[in-house]
Amino acid sequence: MYLTKEEEKMLDGEYGLAIQKAIQILVAIGDIFEAEYLINIESAQISGVSYYNIGDAGLEFLEEFSNLNAKVVVKSTLNPCGMDLDRWREMGIDQEYYEKQMRIIKAFEKMGVEITCTCTPYFVGNIPRSGSHIAWSESSAVVFANSVLNAKTNREGGPSALASAIIGKTPYYGLHKDENRLPNFLVKIETNLKTNLDFSLLGYTIGRLIPSSIPYIYGLKNYDVDKLKALSAALATSGNISMFHFKGKIKDKLEKLTIDKKELEISREMLSMNGEPDLICIGCPHCSYNEILYLAKAVKKKKLKKNYGLWIWTSKGVFLRAYKHVKILENAGCKVFKDTCMVVYPIKLSGYKHMASNSCKAVNYVASISGLKASLIELSDVFSKFFE
Ligand code: F3S
Repeated sequence: MYLTKEEEKMLDGEYGLAIQKAIQILVAIGDIFEAEYLINIESAQISGVSYYNIGDAGLEFLEEFSNLNAKVVVKSTLNPCGMDLDRWREMGIDQEYYEKQMRIIKAFEKMGVEITCTCTPYFVGNIPRSGSHIAWSESSAVVFANSVLNAKTNREGGPSALASAIIGKTPYYGLHKDENRLPNFLVKIETNLKTNLDFSLLGYTIGRLIPSSIPYIYGLKNYDVDKLKALSAALATSGNISMFHFKGKIKDKLEKLTIDKKELEISREMLSMNGEPDLICIGCPHCSYNEILYLAKAVKKKKLKKNYGLWIWTSKGVFLRAYKHVKILENAGCKVFKDTCMVVYPIKLSGYKHMASNSCKAVNYVASISGLKASLIELSDVFSKFFE
């Protein structure tokens, strides 16, 4: 990969160890993917924050970086961590875990990363300009950024997004290049999509059937930001998809795939375990202000039935903005947690046995890594079955 004189100096350690370490990571990735050079980025979204996921090795890596006085040089936001930073005791987190998670947060803070702790950075001020290059490392946010915001990012890992934030650059390959962003499959939808779960099932089904594609989803209707967020998360769950198209005209003749109700039902079956859920989780990806508002309206003057939990996940930014509605939800017996989610927090500590969610991503990962059973549920069923 071609390096400028300045970048050569960085690599030679002339700007200190932190910068040297960061550019070494970028050069290694650039060499693997045969990138031509490094390009400037406007922002970074950094994953690998939960102590539950990264453990002591991850903690050491981050502290080492921050102790070398590494500093980010572009807007840098953080993915969810492994607990609500205020209500961790309520979640069953012990003191040792808390302290280690806080050391991770402090390391990021020292490097200048905004402690947003959310997978929806675009709801809390990290909104890349259309056409800009970014280095984001949360798969759902990567799909959303490429497809809805029209920014350009590869699916980064936590360390590479952090390295990019420190250098302000990323290797120029993959989805940074316009020629690699063209659709290569035409997906026709022959069923009515109404709810967030429908959009999530569509994403999961496309990822299941054409896992390495850039689909053009033809005839997508009834969508809003929250439904596109649900679709983005699910596309990256069952497949390796980092981008889709849903607007504009297609010039080339593309291979076709038709998705009907039956295909969505197959996905629903695949993700549904037997048994009755005792915990409902909403907010994968993290809830928007509008979603909190909608949920609060739906449960106003109702009470969650005994022995059930309804946990809602969002960012601190949205939590504070929607505080009035958060109170309504809490009064109805729900819990609104921020900074973390059902997947990156050790949800076994909740004491519940079977989680249900309207997100295919949440169900897929809770079922595979947490030890809880998991299944899909429509919000309308949540309100009718779990409230009195
Ligand atoms: Fe976000 Fe957690 Fe889902 S990070 S996309 S809420 S698994």
